[in-house]
Amino acid sequence: MNVLVTGGTGTLGRHVVTLLRQGGHRARIMSREPRGHVDAVKGDLRTGAGLARALSGMDAIVHAASATRQPLRGWSVDVRGTRRLLGLAREAQIKHVVYVSIVGIDSSTYPYHRTKLKTEAVVRGDIVPWSILRATQFHEFIEVVLRGFSRLPAVFAVPLSWQLQPVDSKEVAQRVVDIVLGQPAGILPDFGGPEIRELQSLSQAWMLARKDNRRLVNLNLPFKFSRQFADGLITSPDHKEGKTRFDEYLAERYPMS
Ligand SMILES: NC(=O)c1ccc[n+]([C@@H]2O[C@H](COP(=O)([O-])OP(=O)(O)OC[C@H]3O[C@@H](n4cnc5c(N)ncnc54)[C@H](OP(=O)(O)O)[C@@H]3O)[C@@H](O)[C@H]2O)c1
Repeated sequence: MNVLVTGGTGTLGRHVVTLLRQGGHRARIMSREPRGHVDAVKGDLRTGAGLARALSGMDAIVHAASATRQPLRGWSVDVRGTRRLLGLAREAQIKHVVYVSIVGIDSSTYPYHRTKLKTEAVVRGDIVPWSILRATQFHEFIEVVLRGFSRLPAVFAVPLSWQLQPVDSKEVAQRVVDIVLGQPAGILPDFGGPEIRELQSLSQAWMLARKDNRRLVNLNLPFKFSRQFADGLITSPDHKEGKTRFDEYLAERYPMS
């Protein structure tokens, strides 16, 4: 099968590309900066440049691109960009798009989650036959979050009671590959990590792995989404399909020398 992987340079997309190629399929990467990548096409969801070329000759799409690092561009990249991508995909007779989304976003007030929900609505609009897989937080993303809270030298202030369910991005990628090689299936069961933990215990594990001796304190964020996260909104207790635990990820990432 010939699969276009948007976001093929990202955390998840990179694994999707590798797994597809290992399985004997063609995985073409679309990226704004394709230099240095094999079988990669320059394309930008925000402007539409290169999308038609990226789609030509493809059978299916894994849509894993998102303005994760440019939140103010969420609407133009994710929502409008996806609508544009799928319109062109329809013209190119693409038979299946797999969209990667996030567990628990239906009532989340976190702005990025609102963008994801609107993008899901575009995908659900049947422009191209579709599947949507919602996953919990990738291990790498837990680190992004913790680094984001690491602004102070002596204390480490995080919202201790947030409940998260870290999952291995490679395991999510394997599930995505299985989905794209099958038939369009609509909204699929969530894919979650093996354990739900409070950010307090994830922070402690992260600090230990990195020999970080700062004092861990609670950060009280006065936002509704913070209370929602503490209530477990973005976890999926009935879907603990992932195998690799956050501590195993840390042991591999920060080996004791
Ligand atoms: N991270 C998580 O914990 C998590 C959990 C569940 C679901 N998801 C979803 O999974 C997907 C992948 O997440 P990730 O963490 O792997 O993302 P990531 O590492 O931040 O990668 C984002 C990708 O999007 C591409 N991109 C950004 N803006 C673009 C634009 N204007 N045009 C074309 N491509 C653009 C980037 O490619 P270039 O920079 O090369 O152009 C990059 O490959 C996202 O939709 C995310 O919402 C993530």
